[in-house]
Amino acid sequence: MRIVVTGTNGQVALAMAERGAEAGVEIVLVGRPQLDLARPETVLPALTAAKGDVVVNAAAYTAVDQAESDAATAFAINATGAGAVAEAARMLGVPLLHLSTDYVFDGALDRPYREDDATGPMGVYGASKLAGEAAVLAAGGAVAVFRTAWVYSPFGRNFVKTMISLAASRSEVSVVSDQLGRPTSALDIADTLIAAAARMARTPNDARLSGIFHMAGAEDASWCELAQGVFDALATQGRARCTAIPIPSSNYPTPARRPANSRLDGAKLSAVFGLTLPGWRASLPQIVARLAG
Ligand SMILES: NC(=O)c1ccc[n+]([C@@H]2O[C@H](COP(=O)([O-])OP(=O)(O)OC[C@H]3O[C@@H](n4cnc5c(N)ncnc54)[C@H](OP(=O)(O)O)[C@@H]3O)[C@@H](O)[C@H]2O)c1
Repeated sequence: MRIVVTGTNGQVALAMAERGAEAGVEIVLVGRPQLDLARPETVLPALTAAKGDVVVNAAAYTAVDQAESDAATAFAINATGAGAVAEAARMLGVPLLHLSTDYVFDGALDRPYREDDATGPMGVYGASKLAGEAAVLAAGGAVAVFRTAWVYSPFGRNFVKTMISLAASRSEVSVVSDQLGRPTSALDIADTLIAAAARMARTPNDARLSGIFHMAGAEDASWCELAQGVFDALATQGRARCTAIPIPSSNYPTPARRPANSRLDGAKLSAVFGLTLPGWRASLPQIVARLAG
């Protein structure tokens, strides 16, 4: 199986390359300038040349705060660009696995979100990703949208890397404790996408495999708990102990508001694809060891 993945330096794209190599699955990363989601006319030629059995759209405008002042670019990439990927996949007759986000929700529910719960993005990024979901599903064909959350990995920029670098110079770090989510390793996302892609490539006409699925780590955390998990893992590597101090979001203002609860319920992914992601307490230590080693 040959999986074409959009983006070349993204967390999920690089995790797909690493896990694919280990699993003996051919992964081809296609990014700018050949495939530029801000230039939809580049998408079909680039995906045609890449000759995949399946396409994974892992490229996106992911700067949540910056999107607040750059809505046009966020929507061009996350909505129009994503739609162009889905159109191209349908024209090429290959299944599409598209990534979306927990930030399509407003966080008001007091339980993990299911796929059919009402959406209500709190910011431009979430709104642009929600528009992207609609665009890829409207294209038709075999399309699965996987909403993931709180992604960390050895690659790119992410919260875990930020905490590791802060811990190098501080014994305490104040971290928001009133937002709950499901931290997700990009390596676990890659394993799950590879398995889901194989299933979709085998049975592209199975309508149950199309639609929206929640694909996040199996365990809840606040940002503060996740930070403490990073610091605890660093301590086991022999690093000086650092403590995460809980603070409310009101003490850490950001341009984009974020949901208080964006936990994703993975029951549908488990029931339809038979796939469950590990929790962050199992996946985080290896990644911290890689980054701190
Ligand atoms: N990060 C999170 O916490 C999080 C949470 C929920 C959902 N998600 C979703 O999960 C997916 C993967 O996220 P990630 O963390 O891997 O993202 P990331 O590390 O920020 O990488 C973004 C990728 O998108 C590519 N990209 C950006 N603009 C592009 C354009 N105009 N044309 C082509 N490629 C473009 C980047 O290109 P380069 O390779 O050139 O840098 C990069 O490969 C995204 O759909 C994201 O919305 C992420």
